[in-house]
Parts: sequence; structure tokens; C-alpha cells
Amino acid sequence: MKKIRQPIIAVLGHVDHGKTTMLDRIRKTNVASKEAGGITQHIGATEVPIEVVKEIAGPLLSLWKGEIKLPGLLFIDTPGHEAFTSLRARGGSLADLAILIIDVNEGFQPQTIESIEILKKYKTPFIVAANKIDRIKGWKINENEPFLVNFKKQDQRAQQELETKLWEVIGKFYEMGFQANRFDRVQDFTKELAIVPISAKYGIGIAELLVLIAGLAQRYLEQKLKIEVEGPAKGTILEVREEIGLGTTIDVIVYDGTLRKDDTIVVGGKDEAIVTKIRALLKPKPLDEIRDPRFRFDQVDEVAAAAGIKIAAPGLDGALAGSPVIAARSEEDVEKAKQEILSQ
Ligand code: GTP
Ligand code: MG
Ligand code: NA
Repeated sequence: MKKIRQPIIAVLGHVDHGKTTMLDRIRKTNVASKEAGGITQHIGATEVPIEVVKEIAGPLLSLWKGEIKLPGLLFIDTPGHEAFTSLRARGGSLADLAILIIDVNEGFQPQTIESIEILKKYKTPFIVAANKIDRIKGWKINENEPFLVNFKKQDQRAQQELETKLWEVIGKFYEMGFQANRFDRVQDFTKELAIVPISAKYGIGIAELLVLIAGLAQRYLEQKLKIEVEGPAKGTILEVREEIGLGTTIDVIVYDGTLRKDDTIVVGGKDEAIVTKIRALLKPKPLDEIRDPRFRFDQVDEVAAAAGIKIAAPGLDGALAGSPVIAARSEEDVEKAKQEILSQ
């Protein structure tokens, strides 16, 4: 049976431009404030159910005529620090869509450009969040307001200053070969990059950001997202992690099929393909960050794409972050999966 899976949405951008804070706003969490040195050092994953998207977006969602049929959005948080190029690339390569975050006061920075190069390489469609608009001189902050409502309340000087900063960003995109525009001035979303001004810290513009990302996924990616859910799962390892009482586990993004507790999995390792049986499938609660959950994981019997899941299984010590995970339900499947992994 074919079903529409959740789109995988990577959040990319220069260090401290507000990726984790933006996700915290959507999740109502405080992951960013607990990070060592205020720096994200791991790749994260959070499932945002469509009800939450609808709650935040409110009546704006009706801008996309036609119903949103997505079950939710699976967000991947990535580090912006220059040291973590491989984690950004991993996030970018997994994504169906991306949000590129730019601190509108700092403009383009080295990892902004690097992020754009990654998105270009994997041909990932993206939208831009121009963050920290609350820092513009004289900006009037009204928490959780849609951007267009908030913008109307600003005096002319503040409005003008934002426009100037946006023009600088638009100019930089032009130099990199992109037509970009403020989202409400975009005529054709397949040709122009949409920029949504936001304040991640105060929740301004998050409504429009979610409406755009959900609407774009629904309208342009429906065919790609329609998958045979019953098929054996395919995924990518985000992190290999020791967990007390569980031994070595892997955090995995499942992007295709269904992973079942009684599946055999073939996992990319340091020097070989590891074949093992799943001991437990541990799913973070909705809105929980897999790398820093507030609640206990749920033990589940199966999980359908797309999802972030922790897998406990024997023999994962040699597993390699970034490698594939392929579920197998027969000897033949195991051999095929091994070949597929070794050929990469
Ligand atoms: P890395 O993952 O380390 O690359 O950083 P990040 O992009 O996830 O940024 P993070 O969420 O850690 O935010 C960096 C700092 O900017 C924190 O002190 C946030 O509170 C602050 N910040 C984020 N968004 C906003 C915003 O909209 N307005 C203001 N004033 N500060 C913000
Ligand atoms: Mg971060
Ligand atoms: Na940070």
C-alpha cells in the first residue's frame, strides 16, 4: 500500500544563526540553552506531528488551496560550526527539503555558503529563514505573531532597515545563481527562493515558515513522498552511541519502508557490513529531540518512514555514522543488502 510519508527537513546554516532555537520554538523545548558552549555538536532529529503544524500555522494554512495530507514533518538539526562539515553534508543528503537559516544582521557567512553548496550538490529544494529580526533597531516584539502581522506594526525606519538587510541577502543569492525574494513577493516557488523573516527567539514568522515548508512539500514532493510503506526499511545512521543498559546503539533516520522489531538489519561498519538482529526499537516521543529527549523513548514493534529511531542490537560496536542501514527479511535480502553496502 502506498502512503505519503513525512518529509525530511534539514535545518542548515552558519554557527549561532539560530537553527536549534528555531526548532525549540516549534517544539516548546530548551535544547539550545543546554548545549555545551552553546554549540550544536551532533545531528538531531525531531518529529513534528501535522496537528502541531496546524496549531502554529492556524488559518494561514488555507493559503495552500487543497488539504495538507502529510502526517507531519521530520526535522533534522545540524551543527553550524565549521568543524562539522560532514554532519551538515549528512543532513543535507538525507533531506527532501531544507531550511537555510541566516542571521539577517550578519548576512552570508562561510558556513552559509557551504550549506548552499551542499544543497546544490544534492539538489535539495530549500527556503530561507532570515532570523533575528527582533534585533533590528526599534523593532516591536510581539511573541508568536505571523511576520506579516508583526511587520505592519513596525515604524517605517525599522521596516526600511529590514528591507535593506533582505536586499543584501537577495544580492548574495543572486551572485550564487539564485533568484530570491521575500516569500510574499514570490510569484513562482519553483523558480524563486522564498525568504521568510523570523525571530526564532520570539516565535515571529514561525507560522509562515511552517506553512511554506508544509505547503511546498505537499505541492511539489507528493510523488517523491508517496512510498510503499510495507517494504523493508532503508535508513542512514546519524550517530553511534553508548547507552547505559543497552550497549552500543545507533540513531537512524528511516527514509523508506517499515522497520520491524523482528527484522534482520545490515549495517555499514568500519571495515565490513554488520548483520544483526534488532533487540529493541526505541522511538522518541513526538516533539522530542532524539539526541536530548525529555521523556523516555517508547519501545515499538515497528516504525514506518520517515522517522528517527534508536536501534539496540548486538554487534553494533563497529557501526559507522553516516552508513546505510538496510532491513532484510530473507537470506537473499541479507546478501543483496551486503552487496549494496559494500559497493558504496
Ligand atoms: P549551532 O548549532 O551551534 O550552529 O547554532 P544554532 O544555529 O543552532 O544557533 P542557536 O540556536 O544555538 O542560537 C545561537 C544564539 O542566538 C543563542 O544565544 C540564541 O538565543 C540566539 N538567537 C537565536 N535566534 C534568535 C533570535 O531570533 N533573536 C535573538 N535576539 N537571538 C536569537
Ligand atoms: Mg544548533
Ligand atoms: Na549555537
